[in-house]
Order: sequence, then C-alpha cells, then structure tokens
Amino acid sequence: SVGLNVARIGTSLVFVGETDSTNTLAYRLAEDGAVEGTVVIADAQNRGRGRLGRQWESPAGVNLYCSIILRPPIMPLHAPQLTFLSAVAVAEAIERSAGLAPVIKWPNDVLVNGFKVAGMLNEMSAETERIDFLVLGIGVNINMQRDQFPTDLRHPASSLAIEAGHEVSRLSFARALLESLDVHYSQYRSEGYAPLRQAWLGRSAVMGRRVRVSGNQGDMTGTVEGIDEIGALLLRTAHGTLERVLAGDVTIEG
Ligand code: BTN
Repeated sequence: SVGLNVARIGTSLVFVGETDSTNTLAYRLAEDGAVEGTVVIADAQNRGRGRLGRQWESPAGVNLYCSIILRPPIMPLHAPQLTFLSAVAVAEAIERSAGLAPVIKWPNDVLVNGFKVAGMLNEMSAETERIDFLVLGIGVNINMQRDQFPTDLRHPASSLAIEAGHEVSRLSFARALLESLDVHYSQYRSEGYAPLRQAWLGRSAVMGRRVRVSGNQGDMTGTVEGIDEIGALLLRTAHGTLERVLAGDVTIEG
C-alpha cells in the first residue's frame, strides 16, 4: 500500500512499467467498466500525447505520467470544468512536495519560475446528454534533467528538480497529487464548480494580465477577466468587448 488518504481518487491503482500512453490505457479500462477514481501510472510512455496533437516527452524513471478515470454526472458541455481540477491539484502538490511557487496559465499549464513543468490532457466519452467518463491525463516533469529535454520545445520547459535544486520523491509527489485531486473532486461533487473556479483563479498567472491568445479563432489580445462556466477564458479587448476564448495558446504580454 502507498498509504493514500483518499475517498474517491486512487481507490484503485494500476501501475505499469511502460505503455503507449496512460490516457489510452485508462480510456480502455474505463470502457471496460473501471470504477471512478481508478488511477493509471506508468514509469515511461512510448507515445505520450500532449494537447493539440503534440507529443509529450516521457522518459523512464524520472517523471510522473498518470491518468485518472472520473464519472461525474455532468453534461459534456461542462467537462472543461474538470480541466481546472488537475491544474489546481498539480499546483498544490508542487507547493507541498517541492516547496516551489507554481502558477497556472490557462487552460492548464503549470509553470514554475516561468517554465512549464506539467501538462494535462483530458479526454471524455459521451454519447448522450450525460458524460459516460472522463480521463484526466497529467504529466509532471519531476526529476528530468536539462539534457533530457528536446531542444525545439514550443514552451520553455523545466522540471521540479531543476527549479528546486534537488531531487523530489516521485512517490511523495504522487501521493500529494492524488490527495489534492481527491479533496477538490469531492468538493466539486458536493458543491459544484464555484469553489474550483475560485481555487483556479487564485493560482492563475493570467488573471488581470494582458495576454495574446493564438488559436483557431485567430490571434487576439486583451486583459483576462476570468473564466466562465464552460471553462472559456474571458478576455476584455482594446475595443471594450468581452470575448470568450475556447481554445488556444496564451502568451502573457508586458
Ligand atoms: C500538454 O501540455 O500538451 C499536455 C500533456 C499531457 C501529458 C500527460 S502524461 C500522462 C497522460 N498520458 C498522455 O499520453 N498524456 C498525458
């Protein structure tokens, strides 16, 4: 036993040495009926997936690659609310286990000293007006060294060990992460989105800042006023209009 103090998340743990992608494995387990809270953790991934079809660097022995199966009774439209769950939990776990000061960049990159140290990829199955299940995919660069990063990264990336100046225990990080996910998910199930939105805004690097967003809606600049009930970024443009951005890459200006 890894001694987890949880109600929902991590009640069932699946550890694998190497897999293509923990998200793919978790998705298959969920289709086969795996219970809510099932967590899949791999030591390495040979086809780790990132957002927007990108690849996620997943060497063995150094990082955390995990996917969590959730079955919240919500509409597909509201599934993006859960993207904030993983970002908030990862930020809390980084603070508690490595003593660093992480911030969240919309939608859910977690940055330490301006470097991306974690990423999330959520996938869902929904054929009706209720979702069947969600897979929260979380990748955290824990003890990865500088020479293990590709040189052509889109976002400047780092690891907890590089930023903290010492190794960080993968086990204690994973425990802190699952416990934090459990607390926020239980609260989400009992109180809804409001507390989660507040927690996210409290750790947001973009709230109140001038940003540029590039995505399939084109480039847009404005000042961030918050996030709405479907997870969209609310952007006040120079013309004074309030725009809702559903997807894209955010750069903080100035
Ligand atoms: C991103 O920032 O682009 C998202 C990266 C998500 C990576 C994690 S690692 C565990 C899970 N399995 C995957 O294949 N991807 C996610």
